Amino acid sequence: TGSLDAKMKSVGREYFGTCADRNTLSDAAYEAIVIAEYGQVTPENSMKWDATEKSRGVFSMSDADYLVDWATSHGKLIRGHTLVWHSQLPSWVSAITDAATLTTVIQDHIKGVAGRYAGKIHHWDVVNEVFNDDGTFRTSVFYNVLGESFIDIAFRAAKAADPTAKLYINDYNLDYAGGKVNAMVALVTRLIAAGVPIDGIGSQAHLIVNNGAIPYMHQPLAALAATGLKVALTELDIRMTLPSDATKLADQSSNYQTAVYACKRTANCVGVTTWGVSDKYSWVPDTFSGSGAALLWDENFAKKPAYTGATAGI
Ligand code: XIL
Repeated sequence: TGSLDAKMKSVGREYFGTCADRNTLSDAAYEAIVIAEYGQVTPENSMKWDATEKSRGVFSMSDADYLVDWATSHGKLIRGHTLVWHSQLPSWVSAITDAATLTTVIQDHIKGVAGRYAGKIHHWDVVNEVFNDDGTFRTSVFYNVLGESFIDIAFRAAKAADPTAKLYINDYNLDYAGGKVNAMVALVTRLIAAGVPIDGIGSQAHLIVNNGAIPYMHQPLAALAATGLKVALTELDIRMTLPSDATKLADQSSNYQTAVYACKRTANCVGVTTWGVSDKYSWVPDTFSGSGAALLWDENFAKKPAYTGATAGI
């Protein structure tokens, strides 16, 4: 067929995907597009710590189970997202101050979530957003209590919980050369040398229409891939200042072509995931006030020029 996913597979890649969850899949129009066009789903929120382990040792997995069951019955790959992240983190975790307790808590969380779906998850985003933009480690309970060893602990626990999933580190602002890309390369080089099980680097790719970095974004992607790991664009969206107009939509289309082609031209880039299907449900307007219209289908589920651009990039 002519779907985005089929086209990605025809050029030797693993998938073209989107985030989804029970809420968006309950919209029949959204669900129909995921079924027809996408080969991979990422749980937008249902596998995050605040959704899965609100109290220590008490796992609430019904929304995550829904996503896994939906993907399995529709033949879609799953990118698990995400096991250790400073955001959407319950306060009982943030309150931990001793290293032994936090280590056990990380290991038990990963066992509870990744272990539950062992054998069913294609990629796991094991850690998310560990760096500041200048390449220093982000302040979080994990870094404050354990230093960067929390990353080693998390990857080893993920491998033990689900030996067949490919394990990824994921972050944003890896679209341009600079401190964050350099720090990511240095970290994964250290992890590989230390024998820590890591397979890939996810570049979220939350972009802005006509941002000057977009024409060059294949260069940092190639630098990440030069570590020998796989890479992927994991949360692609390209927002604009609202309201949209024909010029912005045309520029966005061209930007989507460039972004998708940045993956295609990078041999180790295994796939592209957009952070949603329709502008109706995108996280963008809630987070970046005055911005939106970042995806391939509009609020009424009509294909935008961006759909044509993304297709042309494959
Ligand atoms: C976002 C979701 O889309 C929103 O629904 C939620 O309110 C906040 O998180 N980087 C990530 C994703 O890794 O998990 C975030 O998803 C967007 C930024």
